[in-house]
Amino acid sequence: MADDYSAQANPLWSVTMEQQFWVDSWDEGGTKTSFHLRDVHEHAVALAEQGVLDDARVLVPLCGKSVDLPFFARYAREVVGIELVPRAVGEFFADNALTPVEDPPGVFTAGNLVIRCADLFRLTAADLGPVDVVYDRASLIAFPEDMRDRYVATMTGLIPPGARYWINTLEYRPVLPTPPFSVGPEQIEAYFDAAFDIAHVRRDERPEHRMIEKLGLDHLIEHGFMLTRR
Ligand SMILES: C[S@@+](CC[C@H](N)C(=O)[O-])C[C@H]1O[C@@H](n2cnc3c(N)ncnc32)[C@H](O)[C@@H]1O
Repeated sequence: MADDYSAQANPLWSVTMEQQFWVDSWDEGGTKTSFHLRDVHEHAVALAEQGVLDDARVLVPLCGKSVDLPFFARYAREVVGIELVPRAVGEFFADNALTPVEDPPGVFTAGNLVIRCADLFRLTAADLGPVDVVYDRASLIAFPEDMRDRYVATMTGLIPPGARYWINTLEYRPVLPTPPFSVGPEQIEAYFDAAFDIAHVRRDERPEHRMIEKLGLDHLIEHGFMLTRR
């Protein structure tokens, strides 16, 4: 089924090294896609319980095949995921037994769920349309430090004044040279303070987090920030 999601057939498709990393991750599956969670993330549940998603148009950058997407679709007016890798888009719709319509090319719609198979960095606010809420889990922290300014500039350009932007980060030691990268509150302040009001809502020590044992970490904290675009 992944072959049906044929952004790679597009003659404009040319992959950078960073993009190839993600294409390979999805091709190889297994530990390379261990960011994918079986259960809806507790931060997503909290947003739903607080009514943040109600009747909202929700943007999920770097959505993968997250189970948070269909969960959001139960509350939101529309959920728009952005995902680079066609295989991930194909797996998402197959896993959820959905048959999307592709129109225009690269934009897959099933009910109030839309996935744009595209490079986030090429997306404009005009392509995307209005957004009320953004949910960023394993998205900002998927990028190495030298790409984060570009990510912040892209997101700032896509998010209209008044919209809310939830960011989940992991902060851990010793730091690793691969995603998910460690990002703490001081960095969120430095990246977003110019264009957003920032509330540090969640700070949870996670001694049980699977990365601790798997990667030999000393400690790991999971953060949640609610930003509001000025
Ligand atoms: C760490 S995963 C997170 C997936 C999802 N947010 C989740 O919680 O499961 C990052 C995802 O972003 C995609 N990705 C990487 N670079 C991208 C880009 N420039 N534009 C759109 N998607 C991208 C990858 O293919 C991958 O599925």
